[in-house]
Amino acid sequence: MSTTTPELRQAKPLLDGLPGDELYGIKDPVDGDTLLKIMEARRVAFWNATPDTEKSHYQGYSSISRAQLINSLKRQCHAELAAVHAPELSFRVCPWQDVKMDLCRQMNEEARHFNMIRTHLEELGGVWDDEYSPDLPEWNQLFALFMLLDNRFFLDPAKEVVARCTVLNFGIEGWDHLYVQPLFLGIIKNVDETVAEIYEETIMPDETFHFSIGQRVLRNHCDRADLQRIAVEYLDKQLIAHRRVNAAFPRYHKQLGFHE
Ligand SMILES: [Fe+2]
Ligand SMILES: [Fe+2]
Repeated sequence: MSTTTPELRQAKPLLDGLPGDELYGIKDPVDGDTLLKIMEARRVAFWNATPDTEKSHYQGYSSISRAQLINSLKRQCHAELAAVHAPELSFRVCPWQDVKMDLCRQMNEEARHFNMIRTHLEELGGVWDDEYSPDLPEWNQLFALFMLLDNRFFLDPAKEVVARCTVLNFGIEGWDHLYVQPLFLGIIKNVDETVAEIYEETIMPDETFHFSIGQRVLRNHCDRADLQRIAVEYLDKQLIAHRRVNAAFPRYHKQLGFHE
């Protein structure tokens, strides 16, 4: 039975013309520093080639209404909960002790974010509903990607952790940390001091650490060709799904009756 053919057949490039295309067909692994550099270059090139309106869902806002803020905080609570649950899935199978311990810290920090945002949501008169998930299919698809890994059921735990940390820590949190959160902070400062403080003093510093977990997984543990192929494939899945979420926001906000 051939083990390489199906793997290589499956790894059809989702994006091409970007740095790192060669990772899709890689047979001899590159070293960790090189891999991380290529993956970062790929992500940067993708977002640089993306119109501003699809780089984050905060484009075009100079302020946010109270109703929009409450809606956004609910969604943020949901995101923080997902960010507790996803690392827990990786924690169960993670074969690397350093990463396992980092995932514990991440879960603790995400839970703290959830509690802080939820408390403030309630101060504003909003309600956290245990059954909530946003009425936004693109959002739910992105979250399903890092929870369920696109319906892939890896027997090898290293593949599972590489895929999930690439999507959540390296892809989503990396982009949040570099671009989305600083942009959001600039807007929210004029709208709600408490949210700005929560972001500036707690969420953004913690996010630096969460992003670094993704970097460490790629640099220190993603040392096989099959793992490197999975890394690039899941980075692409994340980039595509994330851009779709951003692009869907004008429709979603309109549907909720918000104008930009
Ligand atoms: Fe968080
Ligand atoms: Fe995080």
